Amino acid sequence: MLDSTSKRILFHTGNKGKFLEAREYMISKGIKLELLSDYESEIHVIEPQMNNFNEVATSKLRQVLEQIGNKFDDDWMMVEDSGLLIDELGGFPGPYSSYVYSKIGPNGILRLMDGVETRSARYTASISVWDGNKIQSFEGFCEGVIAVEPRGNRGFGYDPIFIPIKGDGRTFSEMTKLEKSRLSHRANALNILSDAILVPSI
Ligand code: IMP
Repeated sequence: MLDSTSKRILFHTGNKGKFLEAREYMISKGIKLELLSDYESEIHVIEPQMNNFNEVATSKLRQVLEQIGNKFDDDWMMVEDSGLLIDELGGFPGPYSSYVYSKIGPNGILRLMDGVETRSARYTASISVWDGNKIQSFEGFCEGVIAVEPRGNRGFGYDPIFIPIKGDGRTFSEMTKLEKSRLSHRANALNILSDAILVPSI
């Protein structure tokens, strides 16, 4: 359990958008999240090509743990693997979301979806955490539909083309960070995580 004397988790990610969202959400839970790369820049993690977000996140976390040795013994470590799964495209881009984003971006996805009526999709986030003894994993989801054109300028990744079902018709990019965090896959996973790891206050 995470107690008030050790409320720091170091997050290994190269994605600033993910980090900023997760940090803001965890602040609301009283947990301090910091970037591992601010303390250790020489971590090189290979993303395994697997279809399972949980296995990818756990594999990346194990690689981080191997590389840091006992350097951060007092801190918890965290890694997230996430992605967008579009039903009509058989779950594509899924675990390849980051690569596909860098190659064709949201506009490329819109071209693949041109004329497609069934636009249901979901975001998944799998978060793995090391508490000094063991790895625990937590998963969050967000159901939505793919917009017909990009809208908004906030967020990151596929947010301009993702409309969450439980929202009011705006894309994630048209929402504030707080609005997105009420609905997002990342916030759902972090919520389960914080419930599981926080020492209940008496
Ligand atoms: P990875 O977890 O580093 O493999 O990257 C996941 C990719 O999925 C990101 O680079 C984004 O393209 C996409 N993604 C995951 N979560 C979000 C989100 O909350 N908004 C927009 N795109 C996301």
